[in-house]
Amino acid sequence: MNKKYIYLDNAATTPMDPAVVARISDEMANDFGNASSQHALGRKARQVVDQARHEIAKTINAQDKEIIFTSGGSESNNNAILGTARARKNIGKKIITTQIEHPSVLNPMKRLEDEGYQVVYLDVDETGHIDLNQLKNELTDDTILVSTMAVNNEVGSIMPLQEIGDIVKDSNAYFHVDDVQGFGTIDIDVASMHIDLLSVSAHKVNGPKFLGFLFERDGIKVSDLLLGGEQELKRRPGTENVPGIAGFGVAASELNKLDKTALQEKYAHFQKIILNALDQNKIDYEINGSIKGPVSHHTLNLWLKGVGTYSALTSLDLAGFAVSGGSACTAGSLHPSHVLTAMYGADSPRLSESIRISFGRFNTDQEVESFALALVKMCQRIANKR
Ligand SMILES: Cc1ncc(COP(=O)(O)O)c(C=O)c1O
Repeated sequence: MNKKYIYLDNAATTPMDPAVVARISDEMANDFGNASSQHALGRKARQVVDQARHEIAKTINAQDKEIIFTSGGSESNNNAILGTARARKNIGKKIITTQIEHPSVLNPMKRLEDEGYQVVYLDVDETGHIDLNQLKNELTDDTILVSTMAVNNEVGSIMPLQEIGDIVKDSNAYFHVDDVQGFGTIDIDVASMHIDLLSVSAHKVNGPKFLGFLFERDGIKVSDLLLGGEQELKRRPGTENVPGIAGFGVAASELNKLDKTALQEKYAHFQKIILNALDQNKIDYEINGSIKGPVSHHTLNLWLKGVGTYSALTSLDLAGFAVSGGSACTAGSLHPSHVLTAMYGADSPRLSESIRISFGRFNTDQEVESFALALVKMCQRIANKR
């Protein structure tokens, strides 16, 4: 690409950190051992995997042995949900989740409903938050799992994890957190929040794609999804992706050094740059969700009144800016967002006139300013045509 293309779609994926690329390249070139082999090359690979596991465990206050490498957030979510349901079906068949989860949570839930489980989808308000009273009322003795995301991938709402953990710890249920959008943007402590299972993806934190982990609290029972060899402490078979895991370890150690409060302030400043430009130019818009209260500022979801999502994305793309029309996983074909539907209803014009801007660690004020200008111009052009 000749012209500088500005990337503001970090909730979909992030650019790899050059330090991660360097580490992966070095591992690929120099260490090709299988981490299960007994010889020196194998032992070296094992050491690399264990070192990364240690760095990663620190990020969420877990023990090293509680971290299982997987192919990413989707696999971790599937494993946590289907694995819990299968291992605990004799205790009960009720599961509680929310309406605004990622498809890698919602689709396993649908599968379980087909298999005779009862799944309750908690409502959300217009800011993308649940009502803890609904959770308390639904949490019966036969509930085996409560599964919620840490941070919503479309509107950035942060779920009250501490409060949920405090409620769920006194019940029969396990507490699973899809932390794919929270890892890297907010701090999470699995011990104090009473989290039993937690899913993370490396590519959302400047690490490699098709890699992630599942935190499984020591002592809990979850059936394995994949059957095979005895890798990952007999919980996830398959030869480990040693270079990728080494890179993930580097990404995690960068996260361990990051001040998340300062990062959130930086993202809140980016939000202000864009909103000020829209306000100053009297663009007709509303925020989907909120930028105040328990939210991660890494996403900014805007209803651009009268501007169709598809034309907005195309015109911004041509102008050299990458943003999205909701979650990338449903993009390609622009399905109306199930998140905005849950928040505003199926008839809301927001479903066809919204875009999601999402910031990352490497974005700069200048990039965001230049995007804000392009966004204003695009909205004015479309408004003039009407
Ligand atoms: C909240 C959430 N959960 C899960 C996933 C899936 O992660 P992965 O792409 O690693 O499978 C995503 C990716 O967009 C996500 O945003």
